[in-house]
Amino acid sequence: MQCSWKSMVLLALASIAIQYTAIRTFSTKPLSLLCSVGLAPTGHSVNCSLKDLTRLGQETLEGSDRDCDEILSHTQSPPPFSLPSYNATKRTHILILATTRSGSSFVGQLFNQHPEVFYLFEPLYHVQLALLPRMAQSRNLAERRVMLGAARDLLRSLYHCHLSSLESYIRPHPANHSTDKLFRRGASRSLCSPPVCESPLGPEEQSLVLADEGECVRRCGPLNVSLAADACRAKHHTAIKTVRIPQISDLRALIEDPRLNLKVVQLVRDPRGILASRIETFRETYRLWRLWRATGRQPHNLDLGQINTVCEDFLRSVSTGLARPAWLRGRYMLLRYEDLARFPLQKTRELYSFLGLVLDHSVEDWIINNTRGSSDLSSRQKFTTVRDSAANAENWRVKLSLDMVVYTQTACQPLLELLGYKTVFHPRELRNLSHSLVEDRRFLPFF
Ligand SMILES: *[C@@H]1O[C@H](CO)[C@@H](O)[C@H](O)[C@H]1NC(C)=O
Ligand SMILES: *[C@@H]1O[C@H](CO)[C@@H](O)[C@H](O)[C@H]1NC(C)=O
Ligand SMILES: *[C@@H]1O[C@H](CO)[C@@H](O)[C@H](O)[C@H]1NC(C)=O
Ligand SMILES: *[C@@H]1O[C@H](CO)[C@@H](O)[C@H](O)[C@H]1NC(C)=O
Repeated sequence: MQCSWKSMVLLALASIAIQYTAIRTFSTKPLSLLCSVGLAPTGHSVNCSLKDLTRLGQETLEGSDRDCDEILSHTQSPPPFSLPSYNATKRTHILILATTRSGSSFVGQLFNQHPEVFYLFEPLYHVQLALLPRMAQSRNLAERRVMLGAARDLLRSLYHCHLSSLESYIRPHPANHSTDKLFRRGASRSLCSPPVCESPLGPEEQSLVLADEGECVRRCGPLNVSLAADACRAKHHTAIKTVRIPQISDLRALIEDPRLNLKVVQLVRDPRGILASRIETFRETYRLWRLWRATGRQPHNLDLGQINTVCEDFLRSVSTGLARPAWLRGRYMLLRYEDLARFPLQKTRELYSFLGLVLDHSVEDWIINNTRGSSDLSSRQKFTTVRDSAANAENWRVKLSLDMVVYTQTACQPLLELLGYKTVFHPRELRNLSHSLVEDRRFLPFF
């Protein structure tokens, strides 16, 4: 995902202020209690094994029945969680609450690929850019509140398909409800397909436009915001991904709004994995971490706030979610990126069943195409690809030095425990990838 180092710094700085309150509030709650809430033993969980899923992948490509579905429905007892009844006429609004480098683009695709979902990739980017153009301002708690307030208002408008609300944050200001400055427009299928992108394009070109963000921007011309709003209204559901809301409690006003019917998927990832990925991606912001890795010595002026912010925000948010407050009933699901990487189809089914949405075949096809390689691979190769995608989620273990890992573990200890990520203190444990550091745990939504 494209996110400038400036906005990263902004966010990091912005979060420091509330961390102070965070720590104070949090220190009064016993962690062990929170840990035991919402976790179920793995013994009777959905057990569609890797082999089954691989077979499913193969058979789906060959066009036969999905026998994993049967495995899922016949062998599991009790079911993963009680299904809310599906009401096709009721709009469900989905928010993917994430942080940078936690796999949020992947999760976004699970909705973007659905023909009945209108998906927006990071619209709050424009709010942040308009309200906090300079770094120094984000130190200001009042301004931060203003930004969160504006972000909530905008989200509410967007869920009601009032896309024109977004225009006031776009620079330069759109004329005649038309703009070519929408951030990552190409990441949204709805904004790159008819009627929004009315194509003199043939089917082949249209699929190129959908596959390549740059092509969408080049071929579709400026975005007609009124048409986009029509497209939004024509779909049953809206999904928005954001890395710019720090915690679930920041969304309470929206979640409690009965007209919105908002459901939040909080995506988390091992902070050590997030760190390794950010070091690769945000090279300037994480320059000192790279220096540490290269020299083997921790720079004395290393900015600890960056990783602390991730862990504090996750910890507060996840603790709130797992404590099952009434206002989150049926509205909150916790998803570990590592689980999605290992069991993409199974986890996606759980996700859709939590949301009460019908999972579309195009979503499953996308998953199969993007986690297992193309259809001409043999099943053995596919199996390897699945393992690779799982290994990918844990590849921080070969990218970070043991010192960096231990340091991060110390900063994030309560969070690692809460989410079931094992700590390591020896290089042999760290580098031995056949021994997973992700504990089997199930985080069940509650209804
Ligand atoms: C907006 O639309 C009006 C009338 O259709 C037109 O005269 C004007 O040039 C347009 N402005 C821009 C900036 O395109
Ligand atoms: C956007 O689409 C609407 C509805 O079709 C149309 O009336 C309007 O002229 C379009 N705006 C621009 C700038 O093309
Ligand atoms: C999956 O891959 C096949 C073969 O490359 C392609 O025809 C199909 O459109 C892809 N589907 C999705 C949803 O990406
Ligand atoms: C790696 O871990 C596996 C599983 O725990 C173990 O069987 C194996 O001996 C380990 N390999 C090394 C080199 O330590």
